[in-house]
Amino acid sequence: MLNNKIIENIRVNFENELKSVDKLQLLEDLRIKYLSRNGQISALFEQLKDVSKEEKPLIGKSLNDLRNVAANLFSDLKAKLETTDTNKLPKIDLTLPGNKYAIGSKHILTQTLDEIKSIFKGLGFSVNEGPELESDYNNFGALNFAPDHPARDMQDTFFISKDFLLRTHTSPVQIRVMENNKPPVRVIMPGRVYRNEAVSSRSYCMFHQVEGLYVDTDVTFTELKGTLVSFAKQFYGSDLKYRFRPSFFPFTEPSAEMDITCYICKGKGCKICKHSGWLEILGCGMVDPNVFGFVDYDPEKVSGYAFGMGIERTAMLKYGITDIRAFFENDFRFLKQF
Ligand code: PHE
Repeated sequence: MLNNKIIENIRVNFENELKSVDKLQLLEDLRIKYLSRNGQISALFEQLKDVSKEEKPLIGKSLNDLRNVAANLFSDLKAKLETTDTNKLPKIDLTLPGNKYAIGSKHILTQTLDEIKSIFKGLGFSVNEGPELESDYNNFGALNFAPDHPARDMQDTFFISKDFLLRTHTSPVQIRVMENNKPPVRVIMPGRVYRNEAVSSRSYCMFHQVEGLYVDTDVTFTELKGTLVSFAKQFYGSDLKYRFRPSFFPFTEPSAEMDITCYICKGKGCKICKHSGWLEILGCGMVDPNVFGFVDYDPEKVSGYAFGMGIERTAMLKYGITDIRAFFENDFRFLKQF
């Protein structure tokens, strides 16, 4: 005869079995065993009709409680398993096209600078940087520019105040390096520079340079040439033709500019090289003794060379880019080619 003990046993069994259920399929099995129309709990309801009239209300209530408790436990666990049971997660359709992830890449100027850096590191140079906002003294004065030198003119230089400006070249970092280090020094100094120029395919108001400086006892012009030729051959290719032309910079004496054969016409002469067959790639020279005077180096004891090149120009020559503005327009069609 149905009694509370039987009901209680079924409840204990149900709860125990439920504990080991970790898959929706197992939970479904349990539902069929206990809660379905032919399940054990329904079978107990069948037996209710044989219970005596006096006991029926109490036993009936116990049975209802059992069914409610079991149904609640069942639906709680079902909700939980539906979020964790991987068999239930939506099946992957392997025929669907995949998601395309656009992977970024380094800007061509960064790539070019990285390559320049790594070549000069191989030649024994370390890397140093200086600020873009500079003093007039570091940008001009200590580099031996006369007070009335035309480069100081407002037309070229973005002045911030009487004594401060946006640097017009990376050469002021030479001054900073020498003021803060005793010789020998052998560094390259990359960074942004600014010039108040009309924007065109060949010039921009902001661009990048890499400066080089080597000071030690007995540094010669031959070493300068050897270093720059080694760099140019590694960067532009070993079959490169080059020449050094005399030039002038206030902070180097003697000064030179280095040319390489035009990448377009291979030296025959074309529009890009203005029919000369040559393209200028950098300025250089032996550090002027007056500059050593400004940074407290003894020109009787040390000598050195310096050089500077534009990174945009370098990349333009190497990759045949004809408009400097392309570097700064962020046009994916341009950027994605590198
Ligand atoms: N600072 C020079 C320029 O901007 C380049 C240069 C650097 C020349 C070092 C000689 C030595 O044109």
